Amino acid sequence: MQSGHATSAAPDPAFWSAQRILLTGHTGFKGAWMSLWLERLGATVAGVSLPPEYDPSLFALLEPFDRATSRHVDIRDQAALRSAIDEFDPTIAIHFAAQSLVRRSYAAPAQTFETNVIGTVNFLEALRGRLSLRAALVVTTDKVYRNIEDGRAFREDDPLAGHDPYSASKAATELVVSCWNGSFFHERAVPLVSARAGNVIGGGDWAADRIVPDIWRAHRSGKPLLLRYPQATRPWQHVLEPLAGYLRYLECAAHRTPGSVPHALNFGPPANDVLTVAQLAEAMQTALGTSVAWEADSAPKPIEMKTLALDSSLATATLGWRPKLTSRDAIEWTAAWYGDFASGRSPRELCNEQISRYEALP
Ligand SMILES: NC(=O)c1ccc[n+]([C@@H]2O[C@H](COP(=O)([O-])OP(=O)(O)OC[C@H]3O[C@@H](n4cnc5c(N)ncnc54)[C@H](O)[C@@H]3O)[C@@H](O)[C@H]2O)c1
Repeated sequence: MQSGHATSAAPDPAFWSAQRILLTGHTGFKGAWMSLWLERLGATVAGVSLPPEYDPSLFALLEPFDRATSRHVDIRDQAALRSAIDEFDPTIAIHFAAQSLVRRSYAAPAQTFETNVIGTVNFLEALRGRLSLRAALVVTTDKVYRNIEDGRAFREDDPLAGHDPYSASKAATELVVSCWNGSFFHERAVPLVSARAGNVIGGGDWAADRIVPDIWRAHRSGKPLLLRYPQATRPWQHVLEPLAGYLRYLECAAHRTPGSVPHALNFGPPANDVLTVAQLAEAMQTALGTSVAWEADSAPKPIEMKTLALDSSLATATLGWRPKLTSRDAIEWTAAWYGDFASGRSPRELCNEQISRYEALP
């Protein structure tokens, strides 16, 4: 197995164990992994989300958490969100909650904008002026950039845009963060930052319309795997890579005065470690030992970008963060997780093992 490109700073338990973390979107894919990692670091966590949408749900499988409470609150409900945040009085706030699926955003554009844009406004309004708050992070996506399909890796100061409702809503979320930074958060010198990560893969994702869950479902059912854009390239990365970046970003933001860490950072794989959707599917199928082939989906489909890449050199320069796993490693780790889960191993044990293994990488 190839792994590691250079040393990357690990999260500091001494910092995290002293924090009260508000985590929105804790019942989702990234949120479940993050909840477990924060628990290992000794943090006290309050999760605010809708109930898990899928069955199985990684978050439900990882419960119970020792130092985490879980509240079901719709972030579009400003009063309910404010009350949950007031009650918990966080020192660190992390905003994952979102309508995160491109295809669903075509079916429900208004709900996507309400959740992603107004939900972020509500989150920031509830945090504004809170005396205990040391730093806040809003997670958007690699899809916030104006993509002219020239294959160039995006840098943080590239223009924002978004063709589909999901991407546009996340670009609008970036404008909200920038506005609340300039208009409100600077007054109390609380760092408010945004992070743009690539397409994450990892064990325990069962969302609809995502490549890894689709591969796993095809593998289990024996039905052909349908790929919408087999030749499209994406910045695939293991879920632990951006999570490590978010933790590091928040630590640095909380320790420094605002302005000494950038307001926005990319967290992607190396620009030369790019696979097409078909290559990812084939590598994952080989790792799973599946005999099911993939087929190009001929049904009408919404437009999705063909190329997408992130330049994460600013995160490396400012935080010392860098990817530890190649895309092939990420695929192997993911396939191993699903395979072990299917043979009856505990999801908590599997996630804990992978987090330990990840932390031990240079
Ligand atoms: N998964 C990826 O590949 C990827 C890539 C780039 C960025 N992101 C972003 O990272 C974040 C987390 O992604 P994920 O893959 O875990 O998403 P997910 O869809 O698995 O989880 C979404 C979470 O948001 C919550 N949520 C949705 N609508 C809500 C509402 N109205 N009120 C309260 N909670 C609500 C859900 O309950 C869930 O906890 C999202 O902001 C997403 O846009 C994800």
